Amino acid sequence: MQVLTIWPGLLIMFFMFDTLEGYIKPGSPEEKLVQQIDFSRLPVHVAIIMDGNGRWAHQRNLSRTEGHKAGTESVKEVVEASARLGIKYLTLYAFSRENWKRPKEEVNTLWKLLYDYLMEQKQVLLQNDLKLKVIGDKKGIPYPVRRELNSVERQTRNNQRMTLILALNYGGRQEILEAIKKVLKRKSKPDEVNEQMFSRYLDTAGIPDPDLMVRTSGEMRLSNFLLWQIAYTELYITPILWPDFRRIHLFEAIIEYQKRERRFGGLGEGKNDR
Ligand code: FPP
Repeated sequence: MQVLTIWPGLLIMFFMFDTLEGYIKPGSPEEKLVQQIDFSRLPVHVAIIMDGNGRWAHQRNLSRTEGHKAGTESVKEVVEASARLGIKYLTLYAFSRENWKRPKEEVNTLWKLLYDYLMEQKQVLLQNDLKLKVIGDKKGIPYPVRRELNSVERQTRNNQRMTLILALNYGGRQEILEAIKKVLKRKSKPDEVNEQMFSRYLDTAGIPDPDLMVRTSGEMRLSNFLLWQIAYTELYITPILWPDFRRIHLFEAIIEYQKRERRFGGLGEGKNDR
């Protein structure tokens, strides 16, 4: 945090992210990892299924609420680390369509945490040139949260550094069905429907598909997340529970991503002549 005195007695606090310099301790294990990252080949879009808050809490004899609260701290750290690294799009799966099946108290807690996060972090988003975008069925989001989301989206809409995409009341199948309905309403001829035009009807219109998808807590499933968009996304599943996920784990995921050969269904470099 930087503090600037602009008038005697008046302190303005800047929560500027800057770059990685001063953020990573020289000689630390984190620095060793950062040195392995090829910054010319960063994933443009990272998507994360934040899983394991409940198990993290259970292991500590805490309530699930405490798990989600701790998960919010990971959100803050990963947003900051991603922006400092130079990631352009970060998508976080924060509330699925299916999450309504949880006990009412837990559902309320999740929306309250999100509301508090927005109230606390909107200045951070503004000061660091971060844009907020929501994907999912906004109409179903409790009104006070929706109002705040709309307001922060509006205030940050011209920001350029990184887009933070929150998947809220989101389901991949529902998103695809909604897109189909919109295409049908346009009465397009079947021949006019192609991948590019269809993508423009999804909530993620204009956003490149994720290059890397991280799932925490070791579960090997997609849970209805970005089903259309992840056709060629590299998957990285870590046993770390979301509240334990720190920037060091993000660096590890990026290093692993950079070791992969992305072939997009082709043969890859140097294999065409074998
Ligand atoms: C999955 O863990 C996590 C969620 C359903 C919610 C994620 C929410 C947060 C990290 C906090 C608020 C979000 C923001 C963006 C401020 P789980 O409860 O399914 O864990 P379990 O599988 O171990 O029970």
